[in-house]
Amino acid sequence: MKRLLASFKKAAILSITAITMSTSAFAVSIHEGGDAAKGEQLFKANCASCHKITDEVLAAPGLKGIADRWKGKDELLVKWVQNPNAAIATGDAYVKGLIAQYAANFGVMPGQAVTKEDINHIMTYVASGASAGGGAGAQAASADQCITLEDLEKLEPEDLEEGQDIYLVNQDKGGSSAFIWIVIIALILLVIGISGANISRSLKNAQAESESEEDHRSYLQMAKDWMWKNKKFVSVMGLFLFCYFFVVGYGTLMDIGVYEGYNPEQPIWFSHAAHVCKNEIDCQYCHSSAAKSKHAGIPSVNVCMNCHKGIKNGAVTKETEIAKIYEAIGFDPKTGQYRTDVEKKPIVWNKVHNLPDHVYFNHSQHVTVGKIDCRQCHGPVDLYTTGRQATTAQINAMIKDPNYKGITSGVNGQPVASTLIELTKPTLTMGWCIECHNKSKVDLASNDYYVEMHERYKSTEAGRRALRGLLQENINEEREASSWGKMPDTLAPSLSVKGLGGWECGKCHY
Ligand code: HEC
Ligand code: HEC
Ligand code: HEC
Ligand code: HEC
Ligand code: HEC
Ligand code: HEC
Repeated sequence: MKRLLASFKKAAILSITAITMSTSAFAVSIHEGGDAAKGEQLFKANCASCHKITDEVLAAPGLKGIADRWKGKDELLVKWVQNPNAAIATGDAYVKGLIAQYAANFGVMPGQAVTKEDINHIMTYVASGASAGGGAGAQAASADQCITLEDLEKLEPEDLEEGQDIYLVNQDKGGSSAFIWIVIIALILLVIGISGANISRSLKNAQAESESEEDHRSYLQMAKDWMWKNKKFVSVMGLFLFCYFFVVGYGTLMDIGVYEGYNPEQPIWFSHAAHVCKNEIDCQYCHSSAAKSKHAGIPSVNVCMNCHKGIKNGAVTKETEIAKIYEAIGFDPKTGQYRTDVEKKPIVWNKVHNLPDHVYFNHSQHVTVGKIDCRQCHGPVDLYTTGRQATTAQINAMIKDPNYKGITSGVNGQPVASTLIELTKPTLTMGWCIECHNKSKVDLASNDYYVEMHERYKSTEAGRRALRGLLQENINEEREASSWGKMPDTLAPSLSVKGLGGWECGKCHY
């Protein structure tokens, strides 16, 4: 009996070791087996503002080679990403070294709201990216393409590569300068005319003096006499001038309130291309309130310091422009300390976009509910240095540019350009708002906001009646009226924003 028990025990131990051995032999490490595409999205949303997948240091170490550095420490790595302080508390030597190396410049990494599966996807992406040409070479190649509009404007037309001029459309209106030239030429002619008249009068007077017969006519009288003599010429000129001023005047009136292309001077040469295109920082890292409030907001100096505590040099402006950040916040880049003996001078950015006070515009309504990409309204920001008001032509150019994909992928990870709608009216005018409200379809079925609203409507009789009324107004004509007698399961797919009331004056005007 004892022997039986002993051999049973032995077998049990054997099988347990076999099981543990097999799990450790076949266990998939956190760096493989995930979904790299999902990982890319997660990485861009959560990590890309500080980390690159190369070995380059952004505002934290590049993650290339992370699988080797954290070999056999999957659990610790998950702990580190979710809660760095807990990982530090384990006393692991590598983690201690990490903190010693980076925390002084960049601070301790904030805990990330990602699950273990998410981390698996991210690490799979990092591993695949680093091996499949996503390394330094590919990054450098794509960074080379981070050209700015200013660069393009400086090039001679013949030096532009094919297709590059597409964004330079409508850069200058020319109309007003032509007008100024006409005025200048007219003034010159007038001066010549008057002095000519003066000379001829002096001559006549001189002649008259000798003949003792003076010309007593005033200039006005002379002009009248001259016009009377040249009736035909004067009336043709008059008609021409009248038409010219009418056209110019009408154009000027129509342009009131149109500020397309506006690009004011800023206190710091901030480059969207360097941050958005070259370093792939998400718009909402800096304009973080766009998703949840009316305003997109301009980042405070503290946001800049998240990275610039460590990044003291820019590719174009070297130290000069970044030094202005330090001056604003009173930071001494040599000691890496904030100074207490100097006054802070907040950076005063000049406003680029400015709707009149009587208009209500809300970012979250468009970004979060409408799922519209920033570039639909702000244009190819990846090409900008400082902020500028996009022209409708530039926005439409993105749609036509087969190579334009934007850096952060657009709605649901699709290329940005494929999600944009072509519009014709100048940006920020009322015509622009309502043209888009007429053209954009509201995706009711896959939008949580409307699904929830739909459920709430459906739950009461009054709600069902109201919903039926709402839909009846917007049914596509082809549908037979009879099929609308019963409650549809999903809302009509072709409802426009206009159909939801997006053309009601009260929605946009206080
Ligand atoms: C706000 C900046 C920031 C964000 C966002 C961030 N990290 Fe970090 N991360 C750091 C810093 C800084 C360090 C260096 C150690 C320190 O100082 O805390 C670090 C270190 C790491 C390390 C160790 C690097 C090495 O070389 O061993 C890993 C792994 C890591 N982060 C993963 C992630 C992942 C995954 C995400 C996204 C889910 C993420 N981090 C988001 C700042 C950040
Ligand atoms: C439907 C068009 C539209 C979309 C989409 C949109 N914006 Fe705007 N944005 C505007 C308009 C219009 C203004 C001017 C608002 C004003 O003057 O009150 C503006 C103003 C701004 C400003 C100036 C500061 C402010 O809040 O007024 C910033 C920054 C900005 N947008 C960034 C963004 C970012 C980032 C996104 C994407 C997350 C975005 N916008 C998406 C239309 C849009
Ligand atoms: C998420 C990290 C990050 C944040 C936040 C950030 N920057 Fe930068 N910035 C960088 C990096 C990386 C570079 C280096 C780019 C290059 O030139 O290669 C840079 C470069 C610059 C440069 C020099 C550009 C050049 O090419 O000469 C200026 C100026 C600058 N940043 C200003 C700002 C300001 C102002 C803010 C805050 C509104 C800010 N940055 C926020 C990462 C950041
Ligand atoms: C690193 C921080 C940073 C990132 C990332 C960033 N911006 Fe900006 N943005 C700024 C700063 C600082 C300003 C104010 C100075 C200026 O006008 O250039 C600004 C200005 C703007 C303006 C003009 C605001 C006004 O006064 O009306 C718009 C619009 C804008 N950004 C859109 C975007 C969009 C869209 C993206 C993403 C494609 C983006 N930004 C990414 C920092 C950032
Ligand atoms: C690129 C297209 C586009 C442009 C340009 C645009 N909008 Fe919108 N707007 C939308 C979409 C799409 C919605 C619907 C979002 C949703 O509720 O699903 C919307 C909704 C709205 C709403 C809420 C309507 C409602 O029924 O509750 C208001 C208010 C509004 N927009 C104002 C403006 C103003 C003001 C402008 C111009 C400064 C503007 N929009 C420009 C696409 C646009
Ligand atoms: C989708 C949003 C939207 C709707 C709906 C809308 N407006 Fe406007 N409206 C605007 C914007 C934006 C401006 C500012 C245009 C500008 O500054 O060029 C404006 C300007 C105006 C102006 C000032 C004229 C000017 O050129 O500055 C008047 C008057 C006006 N709207 C009347 C109306 C009336 C009446 C209705 C209803 C039939 C209406 N609006 C509906 C967005 C809207």
